[in-house]
Amino acid sequence: MRARAHPAFAILACLFALLLASFPGERVFAADAGGSSPARSAALFEKMVPVLMHPRCLNCHSRADFPRQGDDRHRHTCKTCHQTANQPASGVPGAPDWHLAPLRMAWEGLSAGELCRALRDPHRGGMPPEKLGAHLNTALVRWAWAPGTNAQGAPRSTPPLSHEALVEVARQWLASGSECPGT
Ligand code: HEC
Ligand code: HEC
Repeated sequence: MRARAHPAFAILACLFALLLASFPGERVFAADAGGSSPARSAALFEKMVPVLMHPRCLNCHSRADFPRQGDDRHRHTCKTCHQTANQPASGVPGAPDWHLAPLRMAWEGLSAGELCRALRDPHRGGMPPEKLGAHLNTALVRWAWAPGTNAQGAPRSTPPLSHEALVEVARQWLASGSECPGT
């Protein structure tokens, strides 16, 4: 087996990459995903999964009983502690309209494909594209990137993509037909 590719091949590959990069995004992506657009769309969704499954999102999109105060997850009881902004002194996190996601939007334990289909299922989440895009820009979702510190003063972790990157990947996923990974 040869350890290294022939230099001429490397140069050709670079030229080819340059050529592809000079075309509009759609074409570059088509080449990336072996020409299959649904596969590309599903791959975009996979990029979003580590954010959606991050504790900062999952703690509200959970099946757990804590801190739920009843099946409808009342809002009013939360306001006793949770304000519209983080409280550094007590470590109580906060954002405008702080409340848990409804149970049908619980994501805990779902595979990438299941999570994707749950988002598209009108009986579960099913936010239409324009609503979902806007939702990602709400103060509630943005809070995950400025989650403050806990009662011990330690900073809470933030999701693995920047907020801007998540919004951009979500936009591309929606624009490419919101296809789901198979598993
Ligand atoms: C008695 C005060 C109190 C009440 C009432 C309360 N919480 Fe909390 N909540 C806290 C504190 C304190 C923390 C931070 C715990 C920590 O950092 O370890 C917290 C953390 C959370 C978190 C985790 C945030 C994260 O990602 O780390 C969520 C979600 C949450 N609360 C939702 C709610 C909801 C929804 C309600 C109303 C049903 C509610 N809480 C009612 C005090 C309260
Ligand atoms: C403080 C609680 C809270 C946190 C934290 C939170 N969400 Fe949510 N999320 C909600 C609520 C409440 C809804 C339902 C909103 C509605 O129906 O208008 C929701 C709905 C959603 C939906 C629509 C789901 C569907 O099936 O249509 C998406 C997508 C979403 N959130 C993404 C996120 C992401 C990404 C994060 C983390 C970066 C996050 N959320 C963190 C409370 C939260």
